[in-house]
Amino acid sequence: MIVVPFVIIFTLLAFYQGKFIRKHNVKFYIGASILSVIAFLIADKVKIVEPFIQGYFGLSLLYIVMVTGALNKKSKLSSKLAGVRREYSIIGFILLTPHSLNYFIEFLSDITKIQEWLGIVAYAIMVPLFITSFMVFRKKFTFKGWKKLQRWAYLSYILIFLHLILVAKMPNLVIYIVLFTPYIYFKIVKELKIYKKKN
Ligand code: HEM
Repeated sequence: MIVVPFVIIFTLLAFYQGKFIRKHNVKFYIGASILSVIAFLIADKVKIVEPFIQGYFGLSLLYIVMVTGALNKKSKLSSKLAGVRREYSIIGFILLTPHSLNYFIEFLSDITKIQEWLGIVAYAIMVPLFITSFMVFRKKFTFKGWKKLQRWAYLSYILIFLHLILVAKMPNLVIYIVLFTPYIYFKIVKELKIYKKKN
């Protein structure tokens, strides 16, 4: 359930504080990294770090990044969200790391669970996408090459959805279905429109 208020809060922040987020992006990256390390270290001791360890913070930000790609580019919401897309994808990845590391350690003692493999592959796909979000590495690609690489994000989104369906219990399970289904629908409709225009 907690993902919904986080998605709303992060959307409002993108809408009204996008400029501030972009201006101070490095500070946000450093802050998110510090919080993630702390959350990972005290995972079992303090309940307050649950949104980090359960992946709720990271998922909320990545969800916004994902949805931005399905919105009508001319809408105000789309332009506001697109303005912080890079920042949200970087911070989202950083905030997902304590979750991934925490459960990866557990996973090593039993590597048979498909739901955990899905999370691991989704996260692994995000590693090169995360690295190439930084200008230093992005500059090494042509725009077309970089765009092509970024398309792997779609596979990661599908795997995240499957991961969530298999790990979540009620009521979260319904929430994830309600969040992801319209995205899949609108993204397919948008891609079909682009395809028809090209051909
Ligand atoms: C992109 C990567 C990932 C995302 C977005 C993600 C997201 C989430 C979220 C939001 C939950 C909570 C579901 C709920 O109860 O509502 C969750 C649970 C879980 N995730 Fe991930 N995850 C990712 C990667 C991983 C990785 C790498 C592992 C490593 C094995 C993993 C293992 C688990 C496990 C075991 C649970 C269930 C925890 C429990 O029993 O409460 N996840 N994941």
